[in-house]
Amino acid sequence: MNTQHYKIYLQTFGCQMNVADSEYVASLLITSGNFQITNQLNKADVIIINTCSVRQHAEDRASSFIGRLKKLKIKNKDLKIIVLGCFAQRAKFELQKKFPFIDIIAGPLEYEYLPEILQNTFSINISKNSQHLNLFNKVSVFVPIMTGCNNFCSYCIVPYVRGTEKYRNIKEILSEIKVLLDKGVKEIILIGQNVNSYKSPNLDHELTTEATNQNINFAQLLEMIVNLYSSYKFWIRFLTNHPKDISYDIIKVIKDYSNISRHIHLPLQSGSNRILQLMNRNYTVEKYKEIIQMIRQEIPEISITTDLIVGFPTEKEEDFESTLQIVKELQFDSAFVFKYSPRKGTKAAELLDNVPKEVKEKRHFKLLKLCEEISYKKNLKYIGTTQEVLIELQKDKNTFIGKNITNKTIQITINDNSKSNINIGKFITTKICDIKNHLLISKLS
Ligand code: 5AD
Ligand code: SF4
Repeated sequence: MNTQHYKIYLQTFGCQMNVADSEYVASLLITSGNFQITNQLNKADVIIINTCSVRQHAEDRASSFIGRLKKLKIKNKDLKIIVLGCFAQRAKFELQKKFPFIDIIAGPLEYEYLPEILQNTFSINISKNSQHLNLFNKVSVFVPIMTGCNNFCSYCIVPYVRGTEKYRNIKEILSEIKVLLDKGVKEIILIGQNVNSYKSPNLDHELTTEATNQNINFAQLLEMIVNLYSSYKFWIRFLTNHPKDISYDIIKVIKDYSNISRHIHLPLQSGSNRILQLMNRNYTVEKYKEIIQMIRQEIPEISITTDLIVGFPTEKEEDFESTLQIVKELQFDSAFVFKYSPRKGTKAAELLDNVPKEVKEKRHFKLLKLCEEISYKKNLKYIGTTQEVLIELQKDKNTFIGKNITNKTIQITINDNSKSNINIGKFITTKICDIKNHLLISKLS
């Protein structure tokens, strides 16, 4: 394939890791050949679809998207279709059979072979050490620090399709962050399925603390990044956490450095100890509450968000009531609420999926409503406060969207004669005057 200005279209389903992986694969092509990104599907010469397998619904959405590409492939025989992600890993042969027009299909456990596969498909030389190119000029960029997960929560497909934990080496992480900061990125989001369990691989030995000669843990990595790049104005955040691994040391580092986001996502999943045990989560509701208390005691202004699953096998009304109870008690800033979706191959899939669909739906609705009410009340407290806001995008001529250090979304409107110097990538200080749905509202004159 002659790669003169070939256009790549990215379609990513699923988590932040997929967003980062899609951009990485596109970067491999862009640094090695004559490719560029397009946001027009019909004009693409290469379509990269990154799929998710965490719930059935995510797989269905990816399948329907891929199905629609058949007619593009008929129109343009040179079009290359690349399918990546957890669904590709879980059901490679099924997908190949159903969509024979796919050119490359590779799941996360095969990504190490991707440079070679791309090289052969496109007849170009791929450099394996491709840096994050920030393809979409984002203000806020994901930096993976690990892949995989060792936790094997009984409902979750991730450890099977992404493998067990592998940690990225510190030099690579630091140099990627430096490149991004030099390019003007204002928020670095360290990502991994469970960043709290990060430890530097042995090849980082020269960086390990001499006194202990131990590998660097997540709290130390965070502190190292903040100190090393203290001359840049930027914020740093991380996702996602596991209650059994979050430590006082991590909270202390957040507390000590004002440019670490005052936001923590700490998936609870259920408020019933019986269900938590069946989920293999390795903590109790009491332990979870203790962690939240410790975090709020150290950093009172922090916002805490969570994930919750309703309708796990055998979940009874009383288990669900316990979830409602703890949600009322802990007052999360926001929550993702999911209906349990059985995943073939996981431990929970061996249990009967015995909560009827209507019951799952009812519980989902009720819990979501409760979480939204709490979220609204929490946001009300911001009215009248002054917030530093990182501007991330411009919605229209007079409207900008940004976030503050507790990761709340803020909509700022300016009037036509405004003298405020407001632009994407800027930090501005502004007063919150109202709230609207999930948004904090601010007006600048
Ligand atoms: N069914 C429903 N929700 C799930 N999650 C993971 N696996 C499943 C499943 N099989 C949710 C968990 C996790 C989030 C990323 O997705 O809440 O924290
Ligand atoms: Fe899945 Fe549990 Fe690992 Fe999260 S911690 S990725 S829910 S196995």
